Amino acid sequence: MLAKKLSASEVTDPALYFNRRNFIRAGILAASAVATGAVYRRLNPAGGGEVNTPLIQGVTVPAPATDPSGFRAADRQTSLQDITHYNNFYEFSTDKASVAPLAANFNTTGWRVSVEGLVKMPRVFELDDLLKLSPPEERIYRMRCVEGWSMVIPWVGYSLSKLLDAVEPLEEAKYVAFETLLDPKRMPEQSAGVLQWPYVEGLRLDEARHPLTLLATGLYGRALPPQDGAPIRLVVPWKYGFKGIKSIVKISLVASQPRTTWNSEAPREYGFYANVNPHVDHPRWSQATEQRIGEFGRRPTLMFNGYEEQVGHLYAGMDLRTNF
Ligand code: MTE
Repeated sequence: MLAKKLSASEVTDPALYFNRRNFIRAGILAASAVATGAVYRRLNPAGGGEVNTPLIQGVTVPAPATDPSGFRAADRQTSLQDITHYNNFYEFSTDKASVAPLAANFNTTGWRVSVEGLVKMPRVFELDDLLKLSPPEERIYRMRCVEGWSMVIPWVGYSLSKLLDAVEPLEEAKYVAFETLLDPKRMPEQSAGVLQWPYVEGLRLDEARHPLTLLATGLYGRALPPQDGAPIRLVVPWKYGFKGIKSIVKISLVASQPRTTWNSEAPREYGFYANVNPHVDHPRWSQATEQRIGEFGRRPTLMFNGYEEQVGHLYAGMDLRTNF
């Protein structure tokens, strides 16, 4: 993300990042002829955010011949290495490659999520109860970041609607507001003023209830690694990645549009809706194309990230240039 408080030079462009990685890989190969181990260990220090999270039992893998629901994109999946080492998670670092090592020891013991506000049955869920609320499913989603890169991620989780049904939203509830943990001891960059903490996000209630909207608890059949938002995060595949708030502790049903982090940081650049839209440029760059991580060259960005058939009706009659 580019925020007004960050200069462009502080943010790694995806092309530069991956060229640098290729350069580093090439360097490792060359060095291996002479002094293998030392070079590798220096570039990949122990505790560098390797993925050692446990496997999730009983993941349901529905495999329809065609997938009108949009649950399982046929695109080639991004490698686990890239998904877990190219991260936006400002609570740990604004440098994508540094998030994994800095978040490696993030402790989620005793995690609770409060679901509150305009609901009949407010409840503070222990993580285990939240995980058991609905069977975990694998959803293969295309993800598109507002910065212009994309990935294809086999998430594990269940539709947020299952949780909303459990707490029974009241008639007056029109939006859902989400909040990340606020704990500078466990999330060290919260001591710095790069963003206003905690990170907050929001959806309209009908968006939140759409079956594609996922409460994710894992990826690649494993529990969610810290750098991707352990232990529980939001995934909304037709919206820019910043809507996918990580490490959620609070979900509130509210009557009016909630404040969202990037929209309040830079309202001209990041809207509340943040629907992927190749026809509406970011004020400082085009959104017409994207770089799929792991591929060379750029590919066209699709309207609603390719989920138009499933979600287009949610925005019928809305001016998507104003509501960006
Ligand atoms: N959630 C929190 N709490 N903090 C963040 O900095 N970054 C967002 C989103 N969720 C962010 C967050 C952005 S900008 C993106 S693109 C996605 O997380 C990245 O998710 P990933 O690292 O799992 O790919």
